[in-house]
Amino acid sequence: MTKIAVLVGSLRRDSINRKFAAALEKLAAGRMEFVYADLSGLPHYNDELWDSPPEPVTQLKALIESADAVLVLTPEYNRTYPGVLKDAIDWGSRPWGQNSWVGKPLAITGTSPGAIGTAVGQHHLRTAMVAAGTAVMGQPELYYAYKPEHFGDDGSVTDEGTRSFLESWLNSFAGWVAQTGK
Ligand code: FNR
Repeated sequence: MTKIAVLVGSLRRDSINRKFAAALEKLAAGRMEFVYADLSGLPHYNDELWDSPPEPVTQLKALIESADAVLVLTPEYNRTYPGVLKDAIDWGSRPWGQNSWVGKPLAITGTSPGAIGTAVGQHHLRTAMVAAGTAVMGQPELYYAYKPEHFGDDGSVTDEGTRSFLESWLNSFAGWVAQTGK
């Protein structure tokens, strides 16, 4: 089973990105195990805190390092990605010489109610993840304009076209992990 560290860039309980992650998790069941990072207690990046690293930071780094690959789901905030993800990227990349991201296969997606479904935010995030040293899947891209009617109460994808598109995207991600992972 491929272990996927999942970072959701929204902290709110009813997050559509969290629901989207759960739908992908359901579709990937049996071949990928999703382990969700808890970003709620992550402090803003501060170099001085390495003297006594906060628990949420050490847990995040351990999760990334133990995973076969990473999946990041981002909302779009003011045409970029949320600050909590930037802090996660920065903490993961330090201390100097101990970058947890290096070489990690990674895919980015995200959803918003807006028509362009986080496209701009995802592109900013892609730039930072490349800079951090991850092996980011370039294609296929997955921008999803969220439609609640496409999902059942149990998180399953009820819309046939959406389901087959998400399945094929997951197949590409699995192929990317096999190709670039250790
Ligand atoms: C938004 N939203 C938003 N949506 C979008 O498509 N493009 C954008 O630039 C923004 N900007 C933005 C800024 C801020 C501060 C907030 C709080 C929201 C709307 C956003 O897509 C919507 O709130 C989603 O529901 C957020 O995702 P989660 O939290 O449901 O996962």
